[in-house]
Amino acid sequence: MRTMLQRDDIAQIIEEYDRMKLRIGMTASHSALDICDGGIEEGFPTVAYCQDGRHKTYANYFKTKRSSSGRVLRGMVDKAIVMPSFNDIMNESMQIEMRKRNVVYIPNRSFTSYSSIEDVENKFKVPLFGSRNMLRMEERTEEQDYYWILDKAGLPYPEAIENPEDIDCLVIVKLHHAQKKLERGFFTCASYEEYKEKSSVLLKDGIIDQASLDGARIERYVIGPVFNLNFFYSPLADEGEKLELLGVDWRFESSLDGHVRLPAPQQMTMPAHQKIPEMTVVGHNTATIRESLLEKAFELGEKFVNASKEHYSPGIIGPFCLQTCIDKDMNYWIYDVAPRLGGGTNVHVSVGHPYGNALWRQPMSSGRRIAMELRMAAEQDRLLEVLT
Ligand SMILES: Nc1ncnc2c1ncn2[C@@H]1O[C@H](COP(=O)(O)OP(=O)(O)O)[C@@H](O)[C@H]1O
Ligand SMILES: [Mg+2]
Repeated sequence: MRTMLQRDDIAQIIEEYDRMKLRIGMTASHSALDICDGGIEEGFPTVAYCQDGRHKTYANYFKTKRSSSGRVLRGMVDKAIVMPSFNDIMNESMQIEMRKRNVVYIPNRSFTSYSSIEDVENKFKVPLFGSRNMLRMEERTEEQDYYWILDKAGLPYPEAIENPEDIDCLVIVKLHHAQKKLERGFFTCASYEEYKEKSSVLLKDGIIDQASLDGARIERYVIGPVFNLNFFYSPLADEGEKLELLGVDWRFESSLDGHVRLPAPQQMTMPAHQKIPEMTVVGHNTATIRESLLEKAFELGEKFVNASKEHYSPGIIGPFCLQTCIDKDMNYWIYDVAPRLGGGTNVHVSVGHPYGNALWRQPMSSGRRIAMELRMAAEQDRLLEVLT
């Protein structure tokens, strides 16, 4: 049974909050450093909820040091709470402590990866900055997944090929990695023959399993560069546009990026178990878009915002990321959607995004933009417009 926390529940919680003493909290992974950096920049204390064994980045290396007057001299994580497991944020006692300290939680992908979506929707009684009801869209097993909303929004996405026997162009086969729980065991192929050949190698090596292969999505591979569009939608903006394109990132992927740095003859002599690259994100880089393609990017963002309002009331709040490829005819294709802070925003920490900086006339990262909106909401007594 789904009993999603409602607007009234959140209103009740915020009622008890001291809105001038909000604290920014997050699961300590993914883009947590960006969130913390932005929070500090806008004057919020930060608290990172860490998993033991993965905590030193937050608890030691980026820990803040403040002067006696509270000015930050170094770092951006004020408090690192180290727990046996990320999911311990779901413990009632932990949530009571969060509410006592006026914590506003910023959802990232790790939040929804390490806790179940049911708990996020029903059990996590801490205000989230963003749209709680949209996070489910990323569960790869959902009927109403991100392809569904792209379709409703009239947005372009690579078409699916239902039957492997019908493969007649370069395709990407999307499925889970059999051993690495959070990674994907993608492969590309250009014919049914190649599909059979590659899948049998991957099955034999235990990288994928038959059940996942049978349920895999096969879609047309878009031949062109990857641009992850990091948008921000401001429900509070009264003047100017509510939709902002803060910046664009693209990814370093292992082992794929190693493969493309080898000369073709070397690629050809590799044994079967090394031949098929994996596409695991290991880093990020920043990019800008040719100016004549910018307006189209905004169009994609606007359509997504409108569809989110229609189908996921109140709709998107704050950061979201459309992951696109651009083909040779300058068409965008959206192959993934993040209805929350994207995974590549650390590339802009502290220096800001090119477009965000230009717009705001100061360094504007995604993390800082979130904190800025939260501060505005608190000052104007409009917290319920950005928290769910
Ligand atoms: N249709 C596509 N055409 C070209 N490349 C794609 C396509 N879909 C995914 N990719 C590539 O695969 C990578 C991961 O895809 P994505 O669907 O975002 O997986 P994840 O579930 O890991 O987020 C992307 O960074 C991109 O390089
Ligand atoms: Mg993705």
